[in-house]
Amino acid sequence: MSAPVRIHMDVDPGHDDALALFLAAGHPAVEVVSVSAVAGNQSLAKTAANALRVARFAGLRVPVAAGMDRPLVREAVHAPEIHGESGLDGPALPDPEPGLGLDPRHGVDLLTEAFSRPGEVTLVATGPLTNVAMALLRDPSLVQRIPRIVLMGGSVGLGNVTPAAEFNIFFDAEAARIVFRSGIPIVMMGLDVTHQALATPEAVEALRAAGRVGRVAAELLDFFGASYQRVFGFPAPPVHDACTVAYLIEPSLFTLRPMAVEVECLGPLTYGRTVCDVHGVTGRPPNAEVAMQLDAPAFWRLMVEAIARLG
Ligand code: RIB
Ligand code: CA
Repeated sequence: MSAPVRIHMDVDPGHDDALALFLAAGHPAVEVVSVSAVAGNQSLAKTAANALRVARFAGLRVPVAAGMDRPLVREAVHAPEIHGESGLDGPALPDPEPGLGLDPRHGVDLLTEAFSRPGEVTLVATGPLTNVAMALLRDPSLVQRIPRIVLMGGSVGLGNVTPAAEFNIFFDAEAARIVFRSGIPIVMMGLDVTHQALATPEAVEALRAAGRVGRVAAELLDFFGASYQRVFGFPAPPVHDACTVAYLIEPSLFTLRPMAVEVECLGPLTYGRTVCDVHGVTGRPPNAEVAMQLDAPAFWRLMVEAIARLG
C-alpha cells in the first residue's frame, strides 16, 4: 500500500464537516496532520469547539486550532437553520480529555506551519476560505508550498444559500476569490457533485450498525436530514464535505472537468457565485478541476468501511 496522503483540514463543523473528519480519521489512505477551524456554519467559538470534540472522538490526537472568526470584508451570516444553535446539534459528543484541548496557536498559523515542514501535505477545506486566504495574504510564498487544495464550495449550477451562491463561498467571497486566483491547483467539490452524496436511509442505518462512531455519525445525520427535509425538501441530506476526503482516498469515484472558475464579489444578486466556464468560452485557462459526477454507492461503501474502523 502506498504512503497515506497527509492532509491539513480547515473546517467549520457542521454535520458534514464531522463526517469528513470521521472519514479521514478512519481510512488508512489519508493521515490528518492538523486541523484549523473557521467561522462559517456557526461562530468560531462553536466551530472550533465542535472540531475539537469531533477530532478527539474520532481518535485524532493532532493539533486543532481556532482561526478567523469573521469574513475578510462582510459580516458573518451563520447557518443555524441547518446545523442548529451549537453548529452540531443532535448527539452529545464528549469533552476532550485534559491536555487535548485547542492548540494555543492561531488556526492560520497552524495551517501555515503544516506547509512549512518537509513532506508533502494536501490542504482540504470544507468551510469558508477565510483562513486559507489569510494564510496566503500573510505569506505569499505559500503558493509554492501548497501543492493542491481540495475544497468543498461553489457550484456550476444553482446555489443553496442564495439562488446564485453556495454557502462556503457566499460566507466570504473575497477570500474565495483570493484562493481561486492564487494559482494553486484546486479540486472543487461543488453542489453539482455533493448533492449526489445523499445519506439515504440505507446508508444511515449501515452507519448506525457500524460501531461507536458510526452510531454518532448516524445521529448527526438524523438531525442533518431533518434540517434538509424542512429547509430544502430533500429526502436525504447531502454530506457535502466528505466528498473532499473521499476524492483523496479514491479519485476514481469522481468525474472531474477542468474549468476556469471566477468568484463574483460585487453583484447584489450574485455575490458569492462561482462563475464556471464549462465550455471554455472566456478563453481563460482552467484554474480548477470541478467534480461533476459521483459513484454514490461506492462512496457510501467507503464511508461505512472507514467509519467502522474507528470502532
Ligand atoms: O454548502 C455546503 C457547505 O456549507 C458545507 O461545507 C457545509 O458544512 C456548510 O459549511
Ligand atoms: Ca463545512
